[in-house]
Amino acid sequence: MEKKSKLIKKGDLYYPGKVFKKKALVNNKKIYREADKDPVKFWEKLAKKLYWRKKWKKTFLHKPPYFQWFINGKLNITENIFEKNYEGWNKIKNKTALIWEPEPIEEESRKLTYGELFFAVCKFANALKKLGVKKGDRVGIYLPMVPEVIISVLACARIGAVHTVVFSAFSSHALQIRLQDTEAKILITVDGYYRRGNVINLKQAADEAIKETSIEKIIVVKRSHNEISWNENQNLWFEEIIKDESDECEAEIMDSEDPLFVLYTSGSTGKPKGVLHTCGGYMIQAYWTGKWIFDLKDDDVLWCTADAGWITGHSYTIYSPLLNAVPTLLFEGAPDWPTPGRWAEIIEKYRVTTFYTAPTAIRMFEKYGLEFIQRYKFKSLQLLGSVGEPIDESAWLWYFRNVGKEKCPIVDTWWQTESGGILITSLPGIGPFKPSFTGLPFPGTRFDIFDDKKKSLPVGERGNLVMLPPFSPGMMRGVYKNSEKYLETYWKEYGKKIYFTSDAAYKDENDLIRIVGRVDDAIKVAGHRMTTGELESVVALHSDITECAVIGIVDEIKGEAPVVFAVSKNEKSSEQLKNEIISQIRKEIGPIASPKEVYIVNDLPKTRSGKIMRRILRKLFSNEDLGDLSTLANPESVEEIRKIIKS
Ligand code: PRX
Repeated sequence: MEKKSKLIKKGDLYYPGKVFKKKALVNNKKIYREADKDPVKFWEKLAKKLYWRKKWKKTFLHKPPYFQWFINGKLNITENIFEKNYEGWNKIKNKTALIWEPEPIEEESRKLTYGELFFAVCKFANALKKLGVKKGDRVGIYLPMVPEVIISVLACARIGAVHTVVFSAFSSHALQIRLQDTEAKILITVDGYYRRGNVINLKQAADEAIKETSIEKIIVVKRSHNEISWNENQNLWFEEIIKDESDECEAEIMDSEDPLFVLYTSGSTGKPKGVLHTCGGYMIQAYWTGKWIFDLKDDDVLWCTADAGWITGHSYTIYSPLLNAVPTLLFEGAPDWPTPGRWAEIIEKYRVTTFYTAPTAIRMFEKYGLEFIQRYKFKSLQLLGSVGEPIDESAWLWYFRNVGKEKCPIVDTWWQTESGGILITSLPGIGPFKPSFTGLPFPGTRFDIFDDKKKSLPVGERGNLVMLPPFSPGMMRGVYKNSEKYLETYWKEYGKKIYFTSDAAYKDENDLIRIVGRVDDAIKVAGHRMTTGELESVVALHSDITECAVIGIVDEIKGEAPVVFAVSKNEKSSEQLKNEIISQIRKEIGPIASPKEVYIVNDLPKTRSGKIMRRILRKLFSNEDLGDLSTLANPESVEEIRKIIKS
């Protein structure tokens, strides 16, 4: 077990302890100066450390709002994980690549070495080819946290198919609209999986989802052996189709700018957007951000708790650790089931060195009190990470003291589905770390905070967080089949050369960035991104509802939670309507979007031009002063809603 020393506190800033700093891969600030001098050259130097079949001709090409990296470079990301890993294949083929911890404690965990994972990937890649999957085809992956989710993702990448992973807790409807948009012909799913002691029948959801899509075959992984419906012409067992396949599969040679995956996310208005990432740039960013931000070395074990269905899972459960040749841990169950100590036990069992999670989980553990957590020494832990939503000071300190034992740096990492990899954080060997501040832009990237008129704001002033050219190699290249949406969401606010993040932020006197929250209608519920607009359109589907408004409110554990206000046109009891609305949301989106409250009201506060005043609903909910109501067309609605909320 490595020696550790306490972090050093100076004022309200923390710096890495001496031992950590000395061994850190990056521990000198000059890296920022070097990168800033010429970011393109900086990334070029980093890109050269990976394996390319053919070197690029030009490093960066900018045709606003579009840009490309490593133009005409040829590669396959899986060759960089497996045979041509920069460390040398012989060195890693017997090393653990993947550790799988199933939910039932009595069930055996599974470990795969890089060699075994490689064979499995090749076999499945060959099976996909046999089913007619070719370079550029989209493949839907609707899998929970089982080893096959990684095997499937990498098998697609191996043959140049574009993977679209859909979070397994999303509903069949959410899956359906994603499959329709990508026009995938193959869907990979599972019979079922465990969640809090129950078996969730995912095959059933998959069967419902494929109606009115172009899915021709469903490949089913056998996991929980529950009974499922079976269509002989359309369904195939994963295990059956790989059984006789060869464990060799030539990697498809991809252009740097060929698509690697499409991942759907919510934001601004309308339907979820398919965020498109490409092979070369994404690989470079996934590799280097993981290496430097998590200080990944040979003997590390990374546990990123994010589900593979989210970008954090794509980048830091799958690609980054594997590109860096460290073991990645995959856990099937819920954080506190059957006991609050479940995650702590896993950290100790596998001697996890690098633990990366969301503030929601931290706040949830905090709620269980100190007694349970203080039983664990967490000797193996070297570094902690936080992601997905702002981490408040209290959660930060709890994490720092009770998990990191004041010895592990905490990297609070800001990024987005769109950015592909982490872009703002303090580097662990340099610091400083300041509770609730994420840190500095990653070397080679440029950010600023603008007011509405494009003026850069001074220290302490809140504005919009923007990214400046040359952006970063792993940034999205577009919205799948919707260039209008791409232009409108990211390049309209400040023009075609400035990327609008949709986040509000400010800087402190050390230039550390604090993220305040979204400025669009996206809310982060337990770190999951959704929009109030998307929820409103689901509520509006209910035939009894004439009007509705959804707001995001502060939630002690989840960070934010949706609250629904709906106007009904009939006399149905409020209780019944509420339940119907909740089940509608669960059905259309999934349980993660379940509202905290549903209020059935007679009217919603509106301006004279008919705009619903969500701001007033938010204030009513949190019992704040409402301010001037003279612009309202129907001020009487306010009192009625106040009474309903109170009761
Ligand atoms: O609002 C920011 C918040 O999450 C948004 C991106 O969500 P998503 O695409 O789901 O990706 C989440 C995982 C990278 C951002 O626009 N966010 C992400 N990380 C942080 C954060 N807010 C505060 N602090 C963070 N560290």
